[in-house]
Amino acid sequence: MDGMDTGVLKDPVVVRRFQPDDLEAALEIDREVFGGYDPTIFTAFYEYYAGSTLVAEVSGIVAGFLLGFKHTPFEGRVFWLAVRPGFQSRGIGMRLMMEVLRIFRQMGALSATLEVRVSNKKAQSLYSMLGFRMIGVCPAYYSDGEAAIVMRLRM
Ligand SMILES: CC(C)(COP(=O)(O)OP(=O)(O)OC[C@H]1O[C@@H](n2cnc3c(N)ncnc32)[C@H](O)[C@@H]1OP(=O)(O)O)[C@@H](O)C(=O)NCCC(=O)NCCS
Repeated sequence: MDGMDTGVLKDPVVVRRFQPDDLEAALEIDREVFGGYDPTIFTAFYEYYAGSTLVAEVSGIVAGFLLGFKHTPFEGRVFWLAVRPGFQSRGIGMRLMMEVLRIFRQMGALSATLEVRVSNKKAQSLYSMLGFRMIGVCPAYYSDGEAAIVMRLRM
């Protein structure tokens, strides 16, 4: 992690709702993981889906975020999840996912779905650990032509 005091990695992770002030940090993370999402996507999420748009904070640093929404009355959908590269593999992605699943359940969802790049084995392994199972493939789902695996968790 460039120039960062590695001591913060041992500090507790706080998962909370995304606030407008988090936008800059979230866009920075998005760039670092080559997400390339438009800032308006983030603002739309925290304005319209405030309850399921989350950040994970470590010692005041935004270490990751999750954009989720209630896709249908009984289904939650994870649109985009990213963790700052220097903070990955420490359970932050897992924490964000567990929290949004808890929120989806509270909102009455019976299942949750998401799409993930065929090549993204790390994310697939995280979702599998949470009980998500592959239900299909969408060819050329991403703008660069890569296919998406569709995964669902029955809750
Ligand atoms: C995919 C992504 C969100 C995962 O976030 P993360 O915080 O690294 O995920 P976690 O740490 O919760 O879990 C990932 C790994 O850490 C391990 N892990 C979980 N908790 C841990 C802990 N407390 N200590 C050490 N390792 C841990 C998990 O076993 C898992 O290992 P694996 O990669 O070998 O399967 C992150 O890699 C990322 O932002 N990638 C780029 C964007 C992206 O691909 N997003 C997903 C789009 S669908």
